[in-house]
Amino acid sequence: MKHLNWILVSVGVIAIFWLTFVAADEIATLRHGAAIDEEVVPEAIPRVIDTDIRPQRSYPMQPPTIPHKTRGYELNLQVNKCMSCHARTRTEESRAPMISVTHYMNRDGNFLAEISPRRYFCNQCHVNQTAARPMIENSFEDMDVLLEKRSEEEQED
Ligand code: HEC
Ligand code: HEC
Repeated sequence: MKHLNWILVSVGVIAIFWLTFVAADEIATLRHGAAIDEEVVPEAIPRVIDTDIRPQRSYPMQPPTIPHKTRGYELNLQVNKCMSCHARTRTEESRAPMISVTHYMNRDGNFLAEISPRRYFCNQCHVNQTAARPMIENSFEDMDVLLEKRSEEEQED
């Protein structure tokens, strides 16, 4: 029994040593590895992309990202600023694309006169993009790239 205790203690000590000296370098933190008692200069808040160019979607069902600023747009039970441009009745004046027909459907697939409550809070699904450097590398490839790769593979066979 005594033996086992010693083994457990040693394993614990080794684990703590490893976490402090070896893994500490590898763990990504939002503080960029700064010590806890060090004050870091915060990074500048990244610029919101405001090109007005409707971006390509990564797959057909993707909620498109927002290509304009939305700062200060009120979105609550009383007011929906987004709908003041994107509602069916507003697009002629605003030149904004109409929310698609799915936004007027309830969960049984029936069409409503007004936006469906399921789609009322736009920023549940639609977000701005910023010019920030990605924190993690993204290796997403869309369907076209995958299909192209497959047809190349088939040609090789
Ligand atoms: C003042 C009018 C106006 C308001 C308010 C507005 N938009 Fe837009 N939105 C536009 C216009 C115009 C476009 C077309 C691209 C452009 O010119 O920016 C657009 C484009 C978009 C697109 C891209 C559509 C696509 O097919 O790629 C999304 C998503 C979007 N807006 C969401 C929102 C959300 C969410 C809000 C509220 C937080 C909002 N918009 C508020 C005018 C507006
Ligand atoms: C539950 C998720 C969800 C919510 C909430 C939502 N959308 Fe969407 N939106 C989508 C998806 C998914 C698409 C693309 C497929 C589609 O049209 O349904 C889309 C498409 C759009 C488009 C492009 C339409 C087109 O035909 O090109 C616009 C503009 C848009 N949404 C605006 C809005 C606005 C404004 C709101 C809030 C009033 C909103 N959406 C709320 C998921 C959502």
